[in-house]
Amino acid sequence: MKITAAITGVGAYVPDYVLTNQELEKLVDTTDEWITTRTGIKERRILKGENQGTSVMGIKAVQQLLDKTGTRAEEIDLIICATTTPDLVFPATANIISAGVGATNAFGYDVQAACSGFLFSLATGAQFIQSGMYKKVIVVGADKMSSIVDYTDRANCIIFGDGAGAVLLEPSTEGYGILDQVLRSDGKGEQYLYQKAGGSRRPPSAETVANKEHFIYQEGATVFKFAVTNMANVAAEVMERNNLTKEDVAWLVPHQANKRIIDATANRMGVGPEKVMLNIHRYGNTTNATIPLCLSDYEQQLHKGDNIILAAFGGGFTWGSIYIKWAYDPNPDPQHA
Ligand code: UT7
Repeated sequence: MKITAAITGVGAYVPDYVLTNQELEKLVDTTDEWITTRTGIKERRILKGENQGTSVMGIKAVQQLLDKTGTRAEEIDLIICATTTPDLVFPATANIISAGVGATNAFGYDVQAACSGFLFSLATGAQFIQSGMYKKVIVVGADKMSSIVDYTDRANCIIFGDGAGAVLLEPSTEGYGILDQVLRSDGKGEQYLYQKAGGSRRPPSAETVANKEHFIYQEGATVFKFAVTNMANVAAEVMERNNLTKEDVAWLVPHQANKRIIDATANRMGVGPEKVMLNIHRYGNTTNATIPLCLSDYEQQLHKGDNIILAAFGGGFTWGSIYIKWAYDPNPDPQHA
């Protein structure tokens, strides 16, 4: 019997601090009106405090996932953490999360694919389930983008926020879960969206710090153009490959980078706004956390058998789309949500 990897639970965490457009108006030369019309973002969450890395949020998201699904941490076989802002260059943030939740029988590693990291990690985690090798795999998407944002750069500081989400993958023999994927990378896109220093090519120095090379560098308009075309193309390709009409699709779960990119993808797929998960107005672009945060926010509206299309585009360039058949109905017990 064919085994597929079903998502059997979702957990999420966003920090308490809300950075509003009004507060950004005081930091840089911008307006609420510009940010809202150009991106759709109204506010984002920021992780404050000393020694608070991405793992702090990842641990909270995974703990919620374990609690909601009634899973013991020792049962977890593998934790994959998709992140662009790891706590440390090494060891992996996945290890720190494993220790934090007490997943003592799990191994773990990080995946770096910028904003497409959650999709690439989901595809990777699914292989371990589909092969029959493991029974419980957690995929976390978590980023503390505020740690690499220059709050004097008005084009970038308005976009990003912090957050974490996590899903549990378990075997299904009834055809639920991750059914297809189209994943792509193009290294020629590096120059348009990257962090110039801090890696082995340009290790940290007084000069790299003075030149602000540890912040996100982005040529926004170029990235926007590639994102609109590529995210829409792969989402449409996944639909065609699986003979899904717009009526068959229950939900589009797009990476939340810019409302205008999301609208373009939905238009290309022919799905109306009522089928598009959207929380960019509340969290901005949380990079690897956008898709699991959407799944968490909309979990109570999802039904067993729903056809769901995930789609993302990010630095690298990286992009992709995944087709999921949702595996469970909403839980009627609000305590459980
Ligand atoms: O998630 C990973 C992938 N990343 C993305 O998908 C992001 C894709 N890019 C974008 O979302 C958009 O390009 C941005 C939101 C980053 C920028 O929007 P844009 O419409 O592409 O603006 P632009 O960079 O072409 O700049 C247009 C104008 C410029 O002014 P001039 O040169 O025309 O006078 C900018 O200086 O808007 C100005 N501008 C701003 N004005 C007010 C840029 N940022 C701001 C701002 N407030 N915050």
